[in-house]
Amino acid sequence: MNLFRMNFNFKGYHKDNLHRDNIKSLPEQDADRSFSISNFTESLANKQMENNAGLETQKENIEQTYQEASDYLKLLYREKELSKNQFWERLSRVRKELLNNKTYFQTYEELAYGCKVAWRNNGRCIARLFWKELIVRDLRHLSTAEEIFNACVEHIRLATNQGKIRSVISIFAPQTPENSGIRIINPFMIRYAGYRQSNGEVIGDAGSVEFTEFVQSLGWKKENKTHFDLLPLVIQMPGEEPQIFDLPPDAIMEVPIEHPEYDWFSEFGLKWYVLPIVSEKILSIGGISYTAAPFSGWYMSSEIASRNFADTDRYNMLPKVAEKMGLNTKSHVSLWKDRALIELNTAVLHSFNLKGVTIVDHHTASRQFMAHIEKEKEKGRKVLADWGWIVPPLSGSTTEVFHREFENIWIKPNFFDRNLSINSHEHVGGCPFHS
Ligand code: ARG
Repeated sequence: MNLFRMNFNFKGYHKDNLHRDNIKSLPEQDADRSFSISNFTESLANKQMENNAGLETQKENIEQTYQEASDYLKLLYREKELSKNQFWERLSRVRKELLNNKTYFQTYEELAYGCKVAWRNNGRCIARLFWKELIVRDLRHLSTAEEIFNACVEHIRLATNQGKIRSVISIFAPQTPENSGIRIINPFMIRYAGYRQSNGEVIGDAGSVEFTEFVQSLGWKKENKTHFDLLPLVIQMPGEEPQIFDLPPDAIMEVPIEHPEYDWFSEFGLKWYVLPIVSEKILSIGGISYTAAPFSGWYMSSEIASRNFADTDRYNMLPKVAEKMGLNTKSHVSLWKDRALIELNTAVLHSFNLKGVTIVDHHTASRQFMAHIEKEKEKGRKVLADWGWIVPPLSGSTTEVFHREFENIWIKPNFFDRNLSINSHEHVGGCPFHS
């Protein structure tokens, strides 16, 4: 198997794809085209032999990167109230760097603000009220998989903060015209394994079966399989085979799940880790693609209770909870699923609160999102959102976000799915199993 060229895309992790029809990768372009690099790329092109197809693409790439850089710098300088002179000066340095290197190096400020705006622009996140609080770690200098792994473990400790969770993003070296970029193959940095048994049943997280088989194919082994085995981190450096690393258990804080009234609940032996870390998205800022930029916030309780524990293709706990509650699972009319779902959510919130771990319930999160919309309005900005992702996976209509419509387009900076080509020149793979 040539792992190196595969575009890993694990079915259990990606169910929602329709939003892809709705992507406009750039905000409304400025009518002001005075930023065009055309003249400069023209001379670059002339310097190099004939005007062949490869050269055309290269020219378009620089043109596009420059356009995105100028769009982003404009936003940055405007929002940070920096002077026009500073803007023009910076833009001309970026242009020179682009012509020499076909890429450019962003300052820490450009990077950090870009990460925050990418969060602010991401239509799927309900917690965007806190976009300015993101801690941005600049780790672009790291060059080996070991160093990156160690930095990921530090990310986990820093963000966990003994349960007082902080939002953190770690930025590793971006893609360049010469290399396809570093890659953390795990869709989520922390996740439990799922082992398919010969009778078809799964030990662990059924959503992880495919990824677990993949890490097993790389040589990962687990002696005593449990329902909550931490999967290893898989890191791929440009042009190298993926490498696997076990996460140190002492860095991973977990919460055992119990119920405030039902003593029997803890007998399920459920637990969950405290830190959701999305690790395989491509972060696009000012024409630069950060292919390894894991970011984490805190959980909304329904992510764990309604999805991870309740989905039939995950831990599928509703029938077990309903049975213990003595509900009639033979009839939909008993609303056994709904009632079991509420108790699962109650248990998750209760258990996290008991341990003093940051978590937000869906009503509070919805309120916060509405406050974010207000705040953004004051700044003259419209909040773009994907309704299906914002409305929580229980009691939707009891939250304010349900009763709103949102415009759902994707503007940059933003986080993009890997198997979606952001720009033609950044194509990072097509069909998951064909290189
Ligand atoms: N839903 C994902 C999970 O259960 C995490 C996605 C990010 N969530 C967040 N609260 N930042 O692991």
